[in-house]
Amino acid sequence: MKMKSSSFTKGANIENADMHEQHPATTLPQREPTIRVAAMPSDANYTGDIFGGWLMGQVDIAGSIPALHRAKGRVATVAVNSFVFKQPIFVGDIVSFYTRIVKVGTTSITVEVEVYAQRDPAKPVCVKVTEAMLTYVAVGEDRKPRPVPPED
Ligand SMILES: CC(C)(COP(=O)(O)OP(=O)(O)OC[C@H]1O[C@@H](n2cnc3c(N)ncnc32)[C@H](O)[C@@H]1OP(=O)(O)O)[C@@H](O)C(=O)NCCC(=O)NCCS
Repeated sequence: MKMKSSSFTKGANIENADMHEQHPATTLPQREPTIRVAAMPSDANYTGDIFGGWLMGQVDIAGSIPALHRAKGRVATVAVNSFVFKQPIFVGDIVSFYTRIVKVGTTSITVEVEVYAQRDPAKPVCVKVTEAMLTYVAVGEDRKPRPVPPED
């Protein structure tokens, strides 16, 4: 069954709807991803789909990058506030992680991470696969919380 074009958030990839009818296609955000990686066979679980733990690790790495820059130094992940696996990731997908600092506290930095997968190079499709929110704490050499320094 073909998906109606109105189900798409943006106009791209409509011709591929029959292959991905349960995965509404979208387009990548108009900004640089924090990291982009290819999902490899070694990242898959026994069913051949990408292991959620691999994705959680990548999300933590991506989220820590803006936190490290904002903290101007070491951070520790204190909480995964939310993590939604909206769609599966498949071996061979190109996975892009987009991050945004949403809150800066006294010692903490909360980062939103949005993840998109691009698949089927012959008939490209882009799917939003995950949304997560993580909190990092700026820590010193002693691994104790330290104030987040003022922004430049
Ligand atoms: C991160 C760590 C240094 C924080 O130390 P702490 O004594 O618990 O710190 P505090 O209670 O003073 O909280 C520090 C900040 O984190 C925030 N925080 C603490 N727990 C939180 C939670 N569950 N969710 C969201 N924010 C939280 C606090 O609100 C505070 O933010 P603010 O200063 O901006 O107001 C400590 O908990 C730690 O070392 N945890 C292990 C980190 C780690 O190893 N992560 C990788 C896991 S493999």
